[in-house]
Amino acid sequence: MSKWNAGLIPSQEGKVAIVTGANSGLGYFTSKGLAENGAEVVMACRNKAKAEEAVDTLLKDVPGAKLKVMELDLSDLSSVKTFTEQFTKEYKKLDLLINNAGLMAIPYRKTKDGFEMQFGVNHLGHFALSAQLFALLRSTPGARIVIVSSMAHKFGNMDLDNLNWEKNYRKWSAYGRSKLANILFMLELAERVDSKGIELKVLAAHPGYAASNLLEKGAEMNGRPWLIKAGHMVNSIVAQSTEMGALPSLYAATSEEVEQGGYYGPGGFNEMRGHPVRVYPNNKKIGKDSRVKLWERSEELTGVSFLSNANLA
Ligand SMILES: NC(=O)c1ccc[n+]([C@@H]2O[C@H](COP(=O)([O-])OP(=O)(O)OC[C@H]3O[C@@H](n4cnc5c(N)ncnc54)[C@H](OP(=O)(O)O)[C@@H]3O)[C@@H](O)[C@H]2O)c1
Repeated sequence: MSKWNAGLIPSQEGKVAIVTGANSGLGYFTSKGLAENGAEVVMACRNKAKAEEAVDTLLKDVPGAKLKVMELDLSDLSSVKTFTEQFTKEYKKLDLLINNAGLMAIPYRKTKDGFEMQFGVNHLGHFALSAQLFALLRSTPGARIVIVSSMAHKFGNMDLDNLNWEKNYRKWSAYGRSKLANILFMLELAERVDSKGIELKVLAAHPGYAASNLLEKGAEMNGRPWLIKAGHMVNSIVAQSTEMGALPSLYAATSEEVEQGGYYGPGGFNEMRGHPVRVYPNNKKIGKDSRVKLWERSEELTGVSFLSNANLA
């Protein structure tokens, strides 16, 4: 059987997709894969100038691509709200929500709402975004939500008493926790939509190790320029291309083979590289109790509720 690749993406004509962090790395190539197969892609980015630059590049690669830039800063819940209000005013459907944007191993920073930045952007911002777009997703036949996680979820731990890392901040552990939160949210959302008989596919993906700007941004914010150079070198030796890294997200978003609650990543050595296949999260970390508690805390912290336990009956 041939390995799944971007040439196998079925027509996306008539579909509307949102890709967060679409101006860079995996988000860019996810947008490209969807746009070249006919989807209209809303590139949800925090920096309009960077997003417009990405649009120019993408239009050179895919002339006639249907692209729209909309501002979204996931580190600010008021920006998430404004984005969803604007989107729901302009669009009456949403076929694909790709929760892709992220930050990795940065120094301690807080979001506008006072959350530790990695947890705030990688999980809470996307939780609020998904909640506020949920009505549109559930009313769009065949809709999917894809959450981009990482192998780093395997070293994440969910300490609900120190979610904001006010004690003992460790940047890599904070990244791992935020990516574990992505998996817990995906699994719990899949279960909740199924229990309500809602027709929405909920999936997660990870890119293995892809040569994006993620490592460099972390090094830059940590004030370690030499690490940027080292990052370049490591990327050029070990990493796969960002184009390949986007394949698991594209597979989850478009393939008919994917299963509800499935997690997809590269099939090569240690899931670091290769074509997308079904992969499995760390079983010890994904218990029901953790999932439910994270959901409740996410609702409390963001002030946004959906499919909450109270509504499950
Ligand atoms: N690359 C890898 O090997 C790897 C491995 C595992 C998982 N991942 C995951 O893949 C996803 C994409 O990362 P990438 O590798 O493509 O890195 P990237 O090239 O650095 O792209 C990250 C994107 O997220 C955006 N972003 C950051 N903070 C944001 C905020 N507050 N609001 C809105 N957007 C924000 C960035 O915007 P700016 O350009 O404005 O900063 C950028 O568009 C992340 O979730 C990451 O955890 C990547």
